[in-house]
Amino acid sequence: MPDLTGRTAIVSGGATLLAQGVVESLAEAGANVVIADIDEEGGRAASARLGAHVDFVRTDITDDADLARLVQETVDRHGGIDIVVNLAATYLDEGFDSRRKDWLTALDVNVVSMVELVHAAYPYLSASGRGAVVNFSSISSTAAQTGRWLYPASKAAIVQLTRSMAMDFAVDGIRVNSVSPGWTWSKIMDDLSGGDRAKTDRVAAPFHLTRRVGDGREVGEVVAFLASDAASVVTGADWAADGGYSAMGPEQAVPAIPKLSE
Ligand SMILES: NC(=O)c1ccc[n+]([C@@H]2O[C@H](COP(=O)([O-])OP(=O)(O)OC[C@H]3O[C@@H](n4cnc5c(N)ncnc54)[C@H](O)[C@@H]3O)[C@@H](O)[C@H]2O)c1
Repeated sequence: MPDLTGRTAIVSGGATLLAQGVVESLAEAGANVVIADIDEEGGRAASARLGAHVDFVRTDITDDADLARLVQETVDRHGGIDIVVNLAATYLDEGFDSRRKDWLTALDVNVVSMVELVHAAYPYLSASGRGAVVNFSSISSTAAQTGRWLYPASKAAIVQLTRSMAMDFAVDGIRVNSVSPGWTWSKIMDDLSGGDRAKTDRVAAPFHLTRRVGDGREVGEVVAFLASDAASVVTGADWAADGGYSAMGPEQAVPAIPKLSE
């Protein structure tokens, strides 16, 4: 069990279903957690549900004044910042039909704002002596998916940015890693399946070795580990939390060679 006692974490996008498992893992490991999300109602509900060590600061991560206020309020409440989890994202993506405005919006939310949040928190992360940043990438960073151009490009950029941050922050004792979930039970899946987890697992089964979607909490355990001293030797890495999605090749988990003699 990673120990985050006395540390303070900001989780962008922390109001959504998947993120609540991440916030829970960090809080149970002992951290004070500040949810930074544009969703005021969801953020307040999550902080009320998740207990005294979880606060909410309404934040639009594309707004630099909001980021400055988030950092100030976090420091005022908790005295510093040790961990930043960049989870907020947009799925805005019309593939080839997406034009400049959509590209700039998607890259602003998914990539540029993550860097700006780290910029705002950097003085406190470096003062911490045990600073850790965990960036949310995705299986979409390495696999092509039909009709998707913006989201996968943004997630691939995050993997590379993680390396760049790890390189330049090593001198400050700040470790930077990314986590790449596979299909994970989340708001979009809840909405699209009408809350049918069993159906979602059936759809995901052929392309996850675990034959199901993951849980936010399972991804959260990886995030808490990466944020903790248990991962003191880990920096600049992308961690798969994907039920084996990325281990599987195009043959999936089906014997292909016997088909030659059928
Ligand atoms: N759902 C999956 O199966 C899956 C798979 C791989 C990776 N991921 C990654 O996990 C993370 C969460 O995914 P999700 O499916 O739960 O997404 P989601 O769309 O449900 O949640 C995104 C959250 O970010 C917030 N947000 C969006 N724009 C914001 C802004 N400008 N300022 C502040 N907050 C903002 C939203 O309000 C929301 O709470 C994302 O980074 C996603 O890329 C998800």
